[in-house]
Amino acid sequence: MTDLLDKTETHEELIAEYREHVWPAASTYYKEPIVIDHGEGMHVFDDRGNRYLDCFGGVLTVSVGHANPKVNAAIHAQIDKVTHTSALYINKPAAELASAVAEVTPGKLNTSFFTNSGTEADETAMLLARLYTGRQEIIALRHAYHGRSMLAISAAGHSTWRHGGTHVAGIKHAHAPYCYRCPFGQTYPDCGVKCAQDVEDLILTTTDGKIAAFIAEPILGVGGFIVPPKEYFSIVSEITHRYGGLFICDEVQTGWGRTGDKWCGIEHWDVEPDVMTFAKGMANGSPVGCTTTTNEIAGAFPGLTFATFGGNPVTAAAAVATIRTIDENDLPHNAAVVGGYLRGKLDALKEKYEVIGDVRGMGLMQAIEVVLDKKSKTPAPDVVLRVFEETRRRGVLIGKGGLFGNVIRLGPPLIASKSDIDELVAALDAAFAAASA
Ligand SMILES: Cc1ncc(COP(=O)(O)O)c(C=O)c1O
Repeated sequence: MTDLLDKTETHEELIAEYREHVWPAASTYYKEPIVIDHGEGMHVFDDRGNRYLDCFGGVLTVSVGHANPKVNAAIHAQIDKVTHTSALYINKPAAELASAVAEVTPGKLNTSFFTNSGTEADETAMLLARLYTGRQEIIALRHAYHGRSMLAISAAGHSTWRHGGTHVAGIKHAHAPYCYRCPFGQTYPDCGVKCAQDVEDLILTTTDGKIAAFIAEPILGVGGFIVPPKEYFSIVSEITHRYGGLFICDEVQTGWGRTGDKWCGIEHWDVEPDVMTFAKGMANGSPVGCTTTTNEIAGAFPGLTFATFGGNPVTAAAAVATIRTIDENDLPHNAAVVGGYLRGKLDALKEKYEVIGDVRGMGLMQAIEVVLDKKSKTPAPDVVLRVFEETRRRGVLIGKGGLFGNVIRLGPPLIASKSDIDELVAALDAAFAAASA
């Protein structure tokens, strides 16, 4: 065993070992991958001692900063008490977490089922909707992402994330509320929010006229932070209910203050979902999934059902400490203020660079859609790759997404300050100058 561990001595050996024994499908960012050694607050440090300002936060997951002392103290304390119990017994952190979730979620949402990932949370939500309604058909969105189980992949609206063609039946995809590339070639608000109205036509023409659910992210995350118009969710939620379905709101990226001033992204649209799902930023990096609904809907899920690690006391303690930290420091408000500051700077970059076609997002969830030129809007993923290398050279980490990989995604921890944003924007500015040269 000692020999096995000793094999990874140098940086190069470590990368070679990872490449040899981890599936190639699990691809990494950058021409030369970064090996992260440790983190602190807004920063991570690689194995060579380089410091990076982390503006992607492990995909919008490190919500209160790396190695947050309060979250880590809660984890340490819980590990010293008991690490695992299984959901066959009750533990205090899980009970506290369930009641905190009930408090921050809108409307009658009151009861949660815990798992380990966003995928499981969404899978559980879609199964629950089928059980509650006794129907099968689910409406999802083009450009959506809900995880990597068979059902979640089947709900994805990206060919790039749908693999094998062996999908679960009964999922239809509505047009995305993607104003920059309107699927109907129209312009908001003259369009009358046709993308939302069209959901009724989709139900009438491609289902048996009754649905189990409509599932959507308030802001389509992997899709490139696509922000639906303000009327969108009230129109679609009304149609969904009229045809007997539940509205499942996937808050995996948008939850926990990310979008600014609200705990949940959907609150900006003033709509109450029937089911909500959470993961990522909920526990600052400890693996967690959560499906929350009303007592009535939860009652439709028959026993037995079980997730070994669901509500694990260490994870739940991390989540409770994360939520407390977000609350005590009013981080949803910080996301609004610092996110607004970031947005102003990105809008200015858009004026400066021909390759920036669109800037969009809410709070500390902002994206830059990169194109060959503003007129053609042709996606330019190669420019994004150059911007990635250039920002990395300047000690800043960013993310990407979009169907063509041409959208830069920025989702720093919610503790980000205006000076962090100045550093990020200076790196982006220099990187776009170099990449467009
Ligand atoms: C909106 C959304 N839902 C679900 C998932 C799946 O979460 P996980 O990767 O934790 O399974 C993701 C992951 O990126 C996501 O962005």
